[in-house]
Amino acid sequence: MENIFLIGMMGSWKSTVGKKLAQKTQMEFIDTDDAIEEFMDMKISEIFYEFGEKKFREMETAFFNEKSKQKGQIFSTGGGIVLDSSNRNCLQNNGITFFLDATSETLANRIHNTTKRPLLSSDGDLQGRLEKIWQERKEYYMESSKHVIETDKLNPDDVMNVIMDKLGLLLENN
Ligand code: S3P
Repeated sequence: MENIFLIGMMGSWKSTVGKKLAQKTQMEFIDTDDAIEEFMDMKISEIFYEFGEKKFREMETAFFNEKSKQKGQIFSTGGGIVLDSSNRNCLQNNGITFFLDATSETLANRIHNTTKRPLLSSDGDLQGRLEKIWQERKEYYMESSKHVIETDKLNPDDVMNVIMDKLGLLLENN
């Protein structure tokens, strides 16, 4: 089985849906943020504050480039994974990538704890900050993914079912 990659903005349910999908398919589940936290024995927010975003991106890229070479895994990726071109290349070539899309308004409503997310942790307009990040990344999300799922009107189980459906179709076509 090919890898399955879930990409999208913070709050797009990548981890929630990825775990459900892994349970359903019995595939190995990897959350890139969790793996980095475990390896560093530090929270993502601590890594950002201690070493800076650039270093975090280097860790993320090193981990993802290496780990995505293996097959049969479901990845929930950090929202910024698409910023690096080698990561985009892995998303295009090392598996099937699903982009979980949602409006900034939906994302802002779903995100309750901004302290866990250093890019959102300052006070003020959460939706506006998400919108700015979205504008910077939207083309990367689109070019990296094979399937786009609009999640605004769905719940995580619905999203999982859409993915299962697409995978079923893909398997039938192969
Ligand atoms: C980030 C998203 C986070 C985490 C880090 C940076 C981003 O992951 O990797 O805080 O740049 O969008 P989630 O998308 O899982 O929140």
